[in-house]
Amino acid sequence: MKRENVLVSEDALARQREFEAKIKEMFTAREAHPVACVDTFGCQQNVADGQKLMGMLADCGFTFTEDPKEADLVILNTCAVREHAEQRVFGNLGILTHTKKENPEQVICLCGCMAQEERVSQRVKESYRHVDLVFGPHALWKFPELLWQVYETRKRVFAVDNEDGTIAEGIPVVLEKGVKAWVSIMYGCNNFCSYCIVPYVRGRERSRDPQCVLQEVRELVEAGYKDITLLGQNVNSYGNDLGLDYHFPDLLEDIDKIPGEYLIRFMSSHPKDATNRLFDVMAKCPHVAKQLHLPFQSGNDRVLKEMNRRYTREQYLAEINYAKKVMPGLVLTSDVIIGFPGETEAEAMDTVSLVEEVGFDALFTFIYSPRPGTKAAAMPDPATRAEKQKWFDKLLEVQNANSAKLHAAYVGKTVRVLVDGESDDENFPLSSRTEGNRLVRLKGGKDLIGKFMDVKVTDSNTWALYGEPV
Ligand code: SAM
Ligand code: SF4
Ligand code: F3S
Repeated sequence: MKRENVLVSEDALARQREFEAKIKEMFTAREAHPVACVDTFGCQQNVADGQKLMGMLADCGFTFTEDPKEADLVILNTCAVREHAEQRVFGNLGILTHTKKENPEQVICLCGCMAQEERVSQRVKESYRHVDLVFGPHALWKFPELLWQVYETRKRVFAVDNEDGTIAEGIPVVLEKGVKAWVSIMYGCNNFCSYCIVPYVRGRERSRDPQCVLQEVRELVEAGYKDITLLGQNVNSYGNDLGLDYHFPDLLEDIDKIPGEYLIRFMSSHPKDATNRLFDVMAKCPHVAKQLHLPFQSGNDRVLKEMNRRYTREQYLAEINYAKKVMPGLVLTSDVIIGFPGETEAEAMDTVSLVEEVGFDALFTFIYSPRPGTKAAAMPDPATRAEKQKWFDKLLEVQNANSAKLHAAYVGKTVRVLVDGESDDENFPLSSRTEGNRLVRLKGGKDLIGKFMDVKVTDSNTWALYGEPV
């Protein structure tokens, strides 16, 4: 893709700010105070998109509610990664027929990854006639224009063209209060893992200009954000499309030079593109958290090949070993799929044995969910759900025992944490995170929120550590 085709022009973005002003004027003329409910599903990338939607709505004069019954405008910002996520959204869409009956002026929008799937937009067109606006991730930057179209014409609007995708800089955002922030450094995915829908709905890989990323991180640090996560489907291919010979480790090194007290994390990393240089840079940069989320998906080479992951078990283990060598105490997490089409029990147990061998601090575990349109969805899938569940339970058993063991090793030690909010445990009313992103429930007063501090770990279980300030 040519860079000039990837970047949305400043003129086009300025036009969107004009549509925002028109919508605001319309409400002012009606002496109305519009309220929006933005409900986001899925990954952090979608959360970051939700913050942009809220930024554009704030510019249109909206305030926010979490209750769709109170809202003049409801947005479901959806995820398509597994069938369950989609079913939830259709359920929520069904419920919105009632809120719209109560308030016929209510505008209902469906956006995000599901909206980009033709199968979904067709179904909404035919069977969910109360939905006014449907747009995919590619049209997010045009949201003010699309919304204006809905208000002006009162007709249903669908903006779901299939395209490679663009980059729109400078969209306003409403950030979450607190210490955590997310920065997308790239969009899209070129990897086409055979089970995954993301490349079909998020378009091709495109990297943001390094200066734009650096400026955004600088502003977040100055605004007091202390735990910043860089986002991309595969951050290790950051820069490959820029033609600058500037890659992810270069970006990390440059971000690390930004002065301040903060931590940088990133996700996700694809093992096929992770390099020793990345781990060396992580090791030497003080702001970069010594935590690595490196999804391996399967511990069996045949399954990895069918998944189109393009690395072997041995290569994955070599990366982990090198990373552990240069960063002793590195906290490791990963994503795993059990029950890929054609996977046998022995192959699933290879995944379990890899989990035992590596000793991950935590895992995100999924049972394979067929996504229509992907290569894997057409593969024979003879194992029953009950068999897959049995393998999955075994995996959880091994992982839970390991998490509990690793957490128990913290007890009695003093660790540095960032206090990030309140917890729901009255004996340990604060929530905090170690550099490795382990949860520590903490004794202490609310005045500690937002601070880095040393705490002594007094207890632990599979999911959390418990401690008190020293
Ligand atoms: N780009 C990231 C990567 O490659 O590590 C992953 C992004 S995906 C949104 C998050 C996780 O969802 C994947 O790592 C995978 O484990 C899981 N996933 C993706 N498609 C799936 C499917 N069809 N069924 C079950 N899990 C799936
Ligand atoms: Fe999906 Fe693979 Fe891309 Fe991750 S790298 S988003 S799993 S296709
Ligand atoms: Fe994220 Fe779900 Fe889309 S995981 S990229 S919101 S399909």
